[in-house]
Amino acid sequence: MLNGPIYFDYNATSPIHPELQEKIVEWLPFWGNPSSVHAHGRQAKKLVREARQSIADALGVSPLELIFTSGGSEGNNTVICGLLFSAQAEERKELITTTIEHPSVTRAMDFAETQGFKVHRIEVNRQGELDFFHFERVLSEKTLLVSMMLANNETGILLPIKKIATLAKARGALMHTDAVQAIGKININLGDLGVDYATFSGHKFYALKGTGAIYARRGQEFFNYIHGGGQERGRRAGTENVLAIASMGYMAHKLQKMPEHYEHMLELRDFFEAQILQKIPDAEITSQKAKRVPNTSSVILPGVHGESLLMSLDIKGFSVSTGSACSSGSSEPSVVLRNMGLTRDEAQSSLRVSMGWMTTREEVESFIEALVSIVDHLRNIKNRGDSRANPS
Ligand SMILES: Cc1ncc(COP(=O)(O)O)c(C=O)c1O
Repeated sequence: MLNGPIYFDYNATSPIHPELQEKIVEWLPFWGNPSSVHAHGRQAKKLVREARQSIADALGVSPLELIFTSGGSEGNNTVICGLLFSAQAEERKELITTTIEHPSVTRAMDFAETQGFKVHRIEVNRQGELDFFHFERVLSEKTLLVSMMLANNETGILLPIKKIATLAKARGALMHTDAVQAIGKININLGDLGVDYATFSGHKFYALKGTGAIYARRGQEFFNYIHGGGQERGRRAGTENVLAIASMGYMAHKLQKMPEHYEHMLELRDFFEAQILQKIPDAEITSQKAKRVPNTSSVILPGVHGESLLMSLDIKGFSVSTGSACSSGSSEPSVVLRNMGLTRDEAQSSLRVSMGWMTTREEVESFIEALVSIVDHLRNIKNRGDSRANPS
């Protein structure tokens, strides 16, 4: 029997890597302010500098092209909202995004609309294919920015960012990608991807929460969002979150050894999906045939309410998530899944299972067993309720 709750929600956040936990204790004495010129400040500055170099090496960019932030939400808002005030924005008044972005992009786009910009939202179908016809139709010399995610947080689908970036650049538009859900799951070379801006977040790849970074290609305009001190070469004010930045640098270094982790996650995910489809024949994996990150499965379990499933799994010791977000106490089906063409019922009976480097086959096996028996149980309860409501 496995001890303690078992975690299948790595897309929400990841545990702090065990080796990193020891490093953090080593770094605790370096509490100085990196902007201070004295020894205490210099020690902290060294940690930040080394982390910046390690992240730059792992992602194929220059350290000067990285700006530390508090995480993915700040990064996305900074890039999108900042560009609304750029020189190009005088001429170019349109933005392009997708209907499956994280709220930190969606809401920033809504804000752009309040500032007089036109936003085009391109759909992705349930197979994970972007509507390129729509994209190419709206892409023009009026486009200021194209912002599309590299990997989706709910289904794991990967968007063809390199191709999108090439098309965007040919029209003189800037290209941003939210890479939050891709780092730690696939090999990424931001330099090769052809984007002007990318954002990511440490807590999605086993580092501490409260830190992330923006990649801004050298020579591109950058508008800082947080004004104040001269940190990050004047591009993002505020005393650096030294330990969290160092933790992200440490994990970035580990990304070099990633392929074995990808294969491990892929093997477990494929095993999980095959078993579920065999044991629950009417189950469906959303975008199963699409290019996806290797750790994520979004499963539709017809006739079962995702929230009830989540609670029953929690009681049995498994932490997962539904595809749905709770807003003001009411549980609405996931906007992303609905926008991909799933019906309300399908979206409401979806479960997101996301695995990590540390997930074991034993954990997956015990999860499958629990999931199958809970689905069976919940369906029996529902059938009894239905036959009481409609006696024949
Ligand atoms: C795709 C995506 N973008 C952005 C974010 C926001 O990142 P953070 O939690 O670091 O603000 C998340 C977090 O779930 C995400 O999944």
